[in-house]
Amino acid sequence: MFIVITKMSEKTKGGLPVHVGIIMDGNGRWAARQGRPRTDGHLEGLKTARKIVEASVRLGIRYLTLYVFSTENWKRAESEVQFIMNLVKRYLVDELNHYRKDRLRVRHAGDLSGLPAEISAEVRKACEDTRAFDGMQVILALNYGGRNEIIRAVNRILDGKALNGESVIVNESAIANNLDNPDVPDPDLIIRTAGEFRTSNFLLWEGAYSEYYISSELWPDWTESHLRAALDFFACRERRFGGAE
Ligand code: FPP
Repeated sequence: MFIVITKMSEKTKGGLPVHVGIIMDGNGRWAARQGRPRTDGHLEGLKTARKIVEASVRLGIRYLTLYVFSTENWKRAESEVQFIMNLVKRYLVDELNHYRKDRLRVRHAGDLSGLPAEISAEVRKACEDTRAFDGMQVILALNYGGRNEIIRAVNRILDGKALNGESVIVNESAIANNLDNPDVPDPDLIIRTAGEFRTSNFLLWEGAYSEYYISSELWPDWTESHLRAALDFFACRERRFGGAE
């Protein structure tokens, strides 16, 4: 059965974005500037993520997707990968009480099967424990790649059809319905910190009509006021989704 959804977010002009995605970039540079190891940058980055989650709740954002670890980040030194995985685990364990208190729902985007078993178990537990909460949804993009998500969606379609013995039609709604979180509206606004102008494989399908906001600040230096500036930028955008004025 397909889920019937409206993939475009409710907002078409200005206002507050319903769904914000953030590419949290610049942890390594932040650390290097202070002559500290890269891992210190990730530690500060985690603190910033906590602050921005809280600020997003206060500001009324409904969905927040954080790009925590990409399918390409495995190329980093093993010690750095291990450090980030431990941070994620700690975050999930430590934040769960706070998530319960504010009724925040944790979700995951990405390939769970490619994560170490102890991490995927914590992710599953956090998602399960908060499934019924109606507060802001925090979607952790972890072992996430936009191309990988589309490939997995196509394979789900092929597997389902093959099982039912049906002919296979791959169209836009079939792919949208088989993404990792098909009921989540497309991101209205994608923010990237640390001044880089690239998507880095983040929400390639869902971000087709997102507004992009690039902040020159490094992620560990981000505060609620930077988020407010991004929301002000968004409020001035006129969105046409490919239509004419
Ligand atoms: C990008 O900076 C950051 C990452 C790949 C890791 C992001 C992880 C966190 C912020 C901590 C975990 C957060 C949560 C919510 C569990 P970079 O290392 O690519 O920085 P650089 O480009 O300056 O080297």
